[in-house]
Amino acid sequence: MVKEIVLSGMQPSGKLHLGNLVGALRNWVNLQDKYECYYFIADWHALTTGYTNPDIIKENCKDLLINFIAAGLNPNTSTIFIQSMVPQHAELHLLLSMITPLGWLERVPTFKEKQEELAGRDISTYGFLGYPLLQTADIIIYRAKYVPVGIDQVPHLEISREIARRFNYLYKDFFPEPEALLTEFPKVPGVDGRKMSKSYDNAIYLSDPPEIVEKKIKTMMTDPARKRRTDKGNPELSPVFQLHKIFSSLQEIESISKGCKTAEIGCLDCKAVLLKNIFSALEPIWQRRSSLIEKPQELYEIALLGSKKASEKAEETLEVVRELMGLRYKV
Ligand code: TRP
Repeated sequence: MVKEIVLSGMQPSGKLHLGNLVGALRNWVNLQDKYECYYFIADWHALTTGYTNPDIIKENCKDLLINFIAAGLNPNTSTIFIQSMVPQHAELHLLLSMITPLGWLERVPTFKEKQEELAGRDISTYGFLGYPLLQTADIIIYRAKYVPVGIDQVPHLEISREIARRFNYLYKDFFPEPEALLTEFPKVPGVDGRKMSKSYDNAIYLSDPPEIVEKKIKTMMTDPARKRRTDKGNPELSPVFQLHKIFSSLQEIESISKGCKTAEIGCLDCKAVLLKNIFSALEPIWQRRSSLIEKPQELYEIALLGSKKASEKAEETLEVVRELMGLRYKV
């Protein structure tokens, strides 16, 4: 049976945290057996906003690849690659640019939002406007059916479908229209109770050593109304409890909830259980990270092999596209 194609990418824009693990990577890992999966590092996309700091992008790329593998992406079953190592994406991006109305790109909501958010940086560039078009090329070059992404990426999937449809209308029904695969996952709070995010400085990173994780959990905010050990608490108001819901067993969750409401347990007891469970989720990742960090050659080969596999598949698509767009020259 032919497996359906799943593709997703991540920008190498910094360290990964528990939110990225639970919200994206774990899901990618779970899709690996059922689908033919393509997972990649979008280094060209990182350049659209970070072109003044290429060295940082390079460092982040390496760290992201380490995290991909450490989190359980399997380079033997999934195709794991780096975008710029598959130049076919750029050629398809160029060809699609011929048929993409400017207005479609200008109307993508993330375009204006990002421009406002990054007001200090000069991103009135062609590359930045074309961000969703490059993303479209990333997706449809593998003729992917499903794209596991967060809700913030839905507008990009929308324009991908529109562009695929326009190509099919102009030339031939060739590209499947990709669909976002939105996965429900619990909100992952940071140590201050807000959404876990790099920009809030409240994240627990996959690269944090155990002592740091321990310190972050121990000083994490709890139910603000529970000031003394004898005060009864409301677990629903504690971000620590939200993390329990993700990392602890049902039994533990129940007993923590009861213990907090009755003041039978204190916040330190509650945090000790959480810490044990976060450690057991992170330990295999830490182990694989430290062994990969010592083997840059192996890491490079994974990227090389994955990119070669991706190139072959991408080239098949491009051959058809070149033909349909009148670019196949023969005598
Ligand atoms: N825009 C995505 C993000 O910032 C990254 C990305 C680039 C992507 N190309 C993609 C995601 C293709 C899915 C499919 O998260």
